[in-house]
Amino acid sequence: MKRKLGLLLMAVVLFVGGQVKADEGMWIPMLLKKYNIEDMQKAGFKLTADDIYDINKACLKDAVIGLGREGRPFRHFCTGELISDKGLIVTNHHCGYGAIQNHSTLENDYLKDGFWAMNQKEELVNEGITASFLIRMDDVTAQVLDSITDETKEADREKMIRKHIKKIVEAAEKDSHYRASVKPFFNGNQYFLSVYEIFKDVRLVGAPPSAIGKFGGDTDNWMWPRHTGDFSMFRIYADKDNKPASYSNDNVPMQPKQSFKISLKGVDQGDFTMVFGYPGTTTEYLTSHALKMMTEVDNPHKIKIRTKKLDLMRADMDASPLVRIQYSAKYAGVANSWKRWQGEIKGLRRLNAIEKKQELEAQFEKWANSQPELKKKYAGILKEMEGLYKELAPISLARDYALEAGFRGAEAVDFAEKFKSLAQLTKKDVDQVAGKVDDLKKESIKFFKNYNLPTDRKLLAATLKMYSDNLEDKYLPKEIITIRDKYKGDFEAYATKALDKSFFADQNKLENLLANYKLSMGKKLTKDPIYVLANSIRFFYESEIAPVYGKLNAKTVKLQRNYMAGLMEMQPEKVFYPDANSTFRVHYGKVSGYKARNAVNYEHYTTLEGIIEKDNPEIFDYDVPQKLRDLYHEKDFGMYANKAGEMPVCFAATNHTTGGNSGSPVLNANGELIGLNFDRAWEGVMSDLMYDAEICRNVSLDIRYVLFIVDKFAGAGYLLDEMNIVKE
Ligand code: ARG
Ligand code: ASP
Repeated sequence: MKRKLGLLLMAVVLFVGGQVKADEGMWIPMLLKKYNIEDMQKAGFKLTADDIYDINKACLKDAVIGLGREGRPFRHFCTGELISDKGLIVTNHHCGYGAIQNHSTLENDYLKDGFWAMNQKEELVNEGITASFLIRMDDVTAQVLDSITDETKEADREKMIRKHIKKIVEAAEKDSHYRASVKPFFNGNQYFLSVYEIFKDVRLVGAPPSAIGKFGGDTDNWMWPRHTGDFSMFRIYADKDNKPASYSNDNVPMQPKQSFKISLKGVDQGDFTMVFGYPGTTTEYLTSHALKMMTEVDNPHKIKIRTKKLDLMRADMDASPLVRIQYSAKYAGVANSWKRWQGEIKGLRRLNAIEKKQELEAQFEKWANSQPELKKKYAGILKEMEGLYKELAPISLARDYALEAGFRGAEAVDFAEKFKSLAQLTKKDVDQVAGKVDDLKKESIKFFKNYNLPTDRKLLAATLKMYSDNLEDKYLPKEIITIRDKYKGDFEAYATKALDKSFFADQNKLENLLANYKLSMGKKLTKDPIYVLANSIRFFYESEIAPVYGKLNAKTVKLQRNYMAGLMEMQPEKVFYPDANSTFRVHYGKVSGYKARNAVNYEHYTTLEGIIEKDNPEIFDYDVPQKLRDLYHEKDFGMYANKAGEMPVCFAATNHTTGGNSGSPVLNANGELIGLNFDRAWEGVMSDLMYDAEICRNVSLDIRYVLFIVDKFAGAGYLLDEMNIVKE
């Protein structure tokens, strides 16, 4: 008995000490077989690694798409999944938000009222949105790093890598309509090729009203318990050969190789869950120096700037329904990271993240100095890193201000920049004028649809003031110093005067100019006060900030690459997962509530009752639609209720997800769809930098609530006919 216990203990120690850490990680699908599948099956998964990823036959990965934009299709902003064999996909409301907003006007306010195409003809076209299917992935490290050694100079290394990647991509795309991309993994220690089939005609099928799809708004964003019905539906169209094609009336619904079965079984505490998707960026292996700069200097400033912007926007949105429509997507965009950064700072403190990193670094130093071979490769990295980050800190802050308070301070500034290409044309380019003017006329219509001058005036004054108050003069663009001195620090006076005079804040004035534009009128643009400001910020940024930042940053990249290699060499028994980089990943964990703080324990799921509890017609974010109230009171939940007769809404689990995972399918042990990932819980948002299974939770929408809303609330139940719903 005693011996047995001893053995058991040893097994436990071995398991915890080596291999994969429970729940943490975002894994490469083609490597599941090697690293994860046993662990997954132990946790309850009933299928095989080939069921998830197999390049020879249809498998679960074929039901997942990365949502991108034309021009940058490999940078997926969200994930989505196929739920019918007619190209129907579901993703989050906040992922479709831009599209829904684009189709919205005061008369047809789909953001507010929701939208449901009652047949395929009514589906709405969205230019520029792409949906990518992963065809296969390959480890191409050997080819990419071919002939590169430790002695290769950084600049040469980069050139060689670029050349090799180009060749690999060309070979992968040859004789096919596929698109390929090669990305670095483990800070450039490995490279993987991803080959995609990218569809370009993605139409809006439906979205609930924001009072459901964005219920709780930015107040509940990044929070648990959560009650947001964060979903929208789209359909992928293809040409008659089922191949990608730009929008055309002749296109037909795309037939995927695979779509998900939808399970009505729901979830219990402890159930196995798996998420597939396109996580965007994480930085789990940074050193303490990087973490310090980011969370103690950069982010606090960025938070401060955004707090100001948000306050100003909010006040104007609350005062006008039109401004609310115009600014809601912009507001949500600014608010999202703003809130996450704040949670991150708290979470990292709670984990003593910096101390933990320092401990690991001390261990690394000791190890690196333990043998001459290692010493040559790794000793001194951390010391150098420390010095570098000291140098980088002020430049990094100046860069943050240029981006957050400069280019993205007032919108007119960013807009004015777009006119540079026209203003700078010279006589020899005269034949380009008409084309540029046409493009800018279109830009201008888009811009002014969502522009409110009084709001922008306040934004301009406030952000310029913060810019000038928080940086030494040597980090300020010249024009900002000139304005400050000329107006004696009264940026409001400047903003009023400059915007009144500017073309970039007055649609009529700008359209008149463009209507009769001739090459000789370039001066009108270049003398515009907002153009002058934008130009000065750009000039300063490009001559004084970006080059220095770029140079120092490149040095950190190299050190980080070596540090990463060292970490992996130091812990050979540990299975590392690569940071997120917008490539396909698999996450697995379990459904679970958590202890948020002293005396506060959260359950693992929420129900419609919680929506009714939050109901408050006085507060925009919590104004429950009457129809939903009625359904609640009639307990009209149909087959979507759980065993207890409740209408489930969201659930929390331990999957290690990040931005880009929104809309990701959440699957049960049988690979059936049980939810849509859309967020993380506040106490655990530091998981991008350091994950902790005790407290990090991804937040998913229960698929039963999705179906309930489509069927009972929206009366779009005909969509369910396309789906494969399993009840038992
Ligand atoms: N926090 C979620 C994510 O990072 C949802 C963001 C959209 N919702 C919002 N209220 N801003 O994407
Ligand atoms: N809400 C995020 C997204 O849009 C997901 C996350 O950061 O957890 O991808």
